Amino acid sequence: MNFRVDLSLLEAKPDSSRFALTLHNLGEEHIRNWHLTFSFGRYIDPNSLSHGSMEQVGYLCKYTAQESLPAYGHHYVEFSINCSPLVSTEDTIGEACVLVTQNGNCQAYTAEHTPTDLGLGHLPPQALKLPDAADLCLIPRPYAVARKPGQFALTNLLSISVETEMAQMAAGWLSEELEEHTGTPVPMTSKGQIHFKRHLLTDLKAGAYILNVARDHIDVFADSHEGFVAAVSTLLQLLPAYSSHRAEASYVMPCVTIEDKPRFAYRGMMLDCARHFHPLSRVKRLINQLARYKFNYFQWHLTDDEGWRIEIDAYPELTEIGAWRGPEENIEPQFTELNKRHGGFYSKKEVREVIAFAAKRGITVIPEIDIPGHSRAAIKSLPDLLVEEQDQSRYRSIQNYSDNVLNPGIEGTYTFLRNILDEVCELFPSPYIHIGADEVPQGVWTGSPACQALMEKQGYRDPKELQGHLLRYAEEYLHSKGKRMLGWEEAVHGDKVSKDTVIYSWSSEQAGQDCVESGYDVVMQPGQYTYLDMTQSSAADEAGATWGGVVPLEKSYSYEPLADLPSNSPKRHQILGIQCALWCEFIHTQSRFDYMVYPRLPAIAEVCWSSKEQRDWNDFLPRLAGHLKHLDRQGINYRL
Ligand code: ACM
Repeated sequence: MNFRVDLSLLEAKPDSSRFALTLHNLGEEHIRNWHLTFSFGRYIDPNSLSHGSMEQVGYLCKYTAQESLPAYGHHYVEFSINCSPLVSTEDTIGEACVLVTQNGNCQAYTAEHTPTDLGLGHLPPQALKLPDAADLCLIPRPYAVARKPGQFALTNLLSISVETEMAQMAAGWLSEELEEHTGTPVPMTSKGQIHFKRHLLTDLKAGAYILNVARDHIDVFADSHEGFVAAVSTLLQLLPAYSSHRAEASYVMPCVTIEDKPRFAYRGMMLDCARHFHPLSRVKRLINQLARYKFNYFQWHLTDDEGWRIEIDAYPELTEIGAWRGPEENIEPQFTELNKRHGGFYSKKEVREVIAFAAKRGITVIPEIDIPGHSRAAIKSLPDLLVEEQDQSRYRSIQNYSDNVLNPGIEGTYTFLRNILDEVCELFPSPYIHIGADEVPQGVWTGSPACQALMEKQGYRDPKELQGHLLRYAEEYLHSKGKRMLGWEEAVHGDKVSKDTVIYSWSSEQAGQDCVESGYDVVMQPGQYTYLDMTQSSAADEAGATWGGVVPLEKSYSYEPLADLPSNSPKRHQILGIQCALWCEFIHTQSRFDYMVYPRLPAIAEVCWSSKEQRDWNDFLPRLAGHLKHLDRQGINYRL
């Protein structure tokens, strides 16, 4: 069987658009019992259909018609969405699939589809013009660099000597990378050409280091594991941007002296592994890259509506059921691969492997278990524990789910939370656990007898207080295990968590400012600058989401957290740092992943690390121009 779907825009008004969908049966069979499923980035008004009926769960739309589909015939239907006009092809049909039932058997057939013309014209590709490469192409820009005459020939490199235990792991990382670059093992000995030494003279803060590359040796000084790791990341960028497995005389690195230190103590990236499961190798590849840019935190978004990705011994259902989407699974397909079972999870052994891999590179892995919203995968896996049967609440989350929020009124929720946090706290050495707390929809809990009873007992007036109630419970439970809670900006809803919780603001710069004003420590992650899933140009066929506007490289590079807050304001101490994020609804291949991440990741690295005075777009571009060769060497599909 063979199908094609065409979607045309009929009319775009400021607050609604109407579309025509035609499903073509390109085969010679008359099809009687069929549904069409397709992914669509907006909520389709179910009352707007010209024929048939539509059910939408998340981004998955399931259309049912009364008529059969004749051989070589077609079916036509119109529908509307009630929002501002679409500006990206990505928000129209992503994939489509025809489900045909014959003799009680349902088969899923992928339907081709043609990209929808949104009537936005065709913008030429907006490419970045780069100047000639700089002499030294270090990103992020170090605090002080002095180029010296001469070069260190890598052919002279025989071994590394480590004079402090503190540098063992960083030196190990360097040794691995050098071997990869040169094809020759670079062991640790007592008489190496690269010396790692503890610096006792000055007070080097975490992440700070001094690097001296001379003609015949290299000295690396620091006073912390993080400092040695940062020095190694600089050394890796001083290597030639090509691998040489032959002992070429020209295989050299420039002689330099570098003194360097970070601006922000927290420099992070969040990766969403729930919307699409990323293989372990991709996660580690990213973490290695993060270390090369001096990031020191990796927030691992492990749970969401569309998938539960971490093995939990107490609840095998979470990964037996919650980690898989598919036409026959408890969780419907979403975004891609609509015709088959799709997903995955990380075993505890794999999680430990990632934690150790990151630790070696100076990166703390922070797990995120997103509650009480974004919990559909857990709820579908453990309905007996997590669903109150009498709950009549009606709501629709921003991603179009009506059954994705944990219920703070029932005991099962607390049992679940304790059991999950017990295992997560045991697994992750991080002193921080991220509890999510974002995007709990309006209307939730209003029809739940258990929630109504809890509100009455506690004297709560606003359902938001139930969210605060549950989060305070989580916070106290985490405290009892010696962990500090982190949450998205909505963790302050209901005003119940303490000021010990660190808030990650994401929806706007103002949200971060509000949290600082209320006395919270914050990590700044405004979508308009730091969301790597946002589109990088305004062309309709450019990849990426659009709610935060266009986020080209220069915009990310320009980010200055709370720019209006005076530099001497004590409130500045509440800004722990900056984080970028990659949400992965539309990101499931390595090439798309790279395209969204690079080169914005290096730009944000500089925002996190380099002092404000040193940040200069016109200085960044020639460094980026030379740095791209390093990305080429690693086969990274960056966007220009
Ligand atoms: C978020 O982007 N919902 C944290």
